[in-house]
Amino acid sequence: MSMTGRVALVTGGGHGIGRATVAALRAKGALVAAADVDLAAARAVADDTDGVLAVRLDVTDRSSVDAGIARCVEHFGRLDCLVSTAGGDRETPEFAEMSDDDWSAAYELNLLGVVRCVRAAVPHLGEGGSVVVVGSVNGLAAWGSEPYSVAKAGLGVLVQNLAASYGPRGVRVNLVAPGTIRTRVWDGQGGPDRLAPMYPLGRVGEPADVANAVAFLASPDAGWITGVTLPVDGGVSTGPIHLLRDRW
Ligand SMILES: NC(=O)c1ccc[n+]([C@@H]2O[C@H](COP(=O)([O-])OP(=O)(O)OC[C@H]3O[C@@H](n4cnc5c(N)ncnc54)[C@H](O)[C@@H]3O)[C@@H](O)[C@H]2O)c1
Repeated sequence: MSMTGRVALVTGGGHGIGRATVAALRAKGALVAAADVDLAAARAVADDTDGVLAVRLDVTDRSSVDAGIARCVEHFGRLDCLVSTAGGDRETPEFAEMSDDDWSAAYELNLLGVVRCVRAAVPHLGEGGSVVVVGSVNGLAAWGSEPYSVAKAGLGVLVQNLAASYGPRGVRVNLVAPGTIRTRVWDGQGGPDRLAPMYPLGRVGEPADVANAVAFLASPDAGWITGVTLPVDGGVSTGPIHLLRDRW
């Protein structure tokens, strides 16, 4: 219970990785705001778990972000930790056919969305405060979906800069980069399990795999870790050697 007495806000807390992160932070003793553009989903999380506040927050809208974070501080009296999971990819045409809007939509949600949340949260974070951002392995190597991947890649340098800026105030800032995780985003695509052979550990990830890593980085257990990107990816970043052994 290393986060007892602390308050965390999780964007995207209504579904998937965000929802699992709310549970993981509660298990460490934190009080948690589940902040989501889908208020009904956030409310369902809050109804399920005591110590959770549902907040409507749209990361693509600065005034909504500012109001959502203010609501959390007003309710709990403080904020110690921001976890930014809201994000996602959308169907785009092949690179040469993409519109400027395909690019700016990916940036709005996956990069500027994080910037807006950190900007609003950081004035509240004091000594021992932390920020954990959820990126993607798409930000580490070529996995397709260029606008989404480039936006996620920007997060690595963002957390390094923020870690350097706010470290002297005792605030840590880290990034996790998940591989394929079993959430609703795979529902229309035949499910995630067809990708399992790519993973040296032989399976795709579960939301709790990411949530446990996030909760560790958010907690004082990671008190001397800042500015890092942690792949949470069943080893897929190691490369394809496990698929090629017979041919080597
Ligand atoms: N599922 C995967 O395979 C996978 C892999 C790598 C990275 N990720 C990243 O993990 C994060 C969570 O993805 P997930 O799979 O849990 O998705 P999900 O769709 O299950 O959950 C995303 C949550 O974010 C919320 N959200 C969407 N737009 C929002 C906005 N503008 N403002 C506030 N909330 C918003 C949604 O309502 C939802 O509750 C995303 O950043 C995604 O890019 C997912």
